Amino acid sequence: MKILVINGPNLNLLGQRDLKIYGRITLAQIEAKITKMADRAQVKVRFFQSNHEGGLIDFIQENFKKADGILINPGALTHYGYSLRDCLEDSRLPVVEVHLSNTGSREDFRRFDVFDGIVAAKIQGLREKSYFEGFKKLIKIISPRG
Ligand code: DQA
Repeated sequence: MKILVINGPNLNLLGQRDLKIYGRITLAQIEAKITKMADRAQVKVRFFQSNHEGGLIDFIQENFKKADGILINPGALTHYGYSLRDCLEDSRLPVVEVHLSNTGSREDFRRFDVFDGIVAAKIQGLREKSYFEGFKKLIKIISPRG
């Protein structure tokens, strides 16, 4: 089994962003923990981050045929990234969406999520644990026994 773990704009700067909202953890530390979880579950992972919607789409188009599922934190594209939504839908892969913060309890513009309706699950508000819970959930979804 192979999972694509994708991060959108500004998530490369985790650890330097608003600490009260996102905490101190870096993306490299999150990816290291997911690598360990993947090894234990005997799942392959491929990580990708881009600050550009087109870069994310190119990566998904190039990799979805060799993958079984996608874990994604789309960053602010969550609220307006329609071409990323189309791309994820076109991949027909199960997608688990994660957010460090609870987008529903922040500014109004963060309440709207273009991925609602196309993702298999969404986990948010648990800081970095959202990624780890989301990863476990995705493994459950794609494993033969469901
Ligand atoms: C985020 C929430 C988004 O609204 C924001 O633009 C981000 C991070 C989160 O993980 O909480 O960049 O996706």
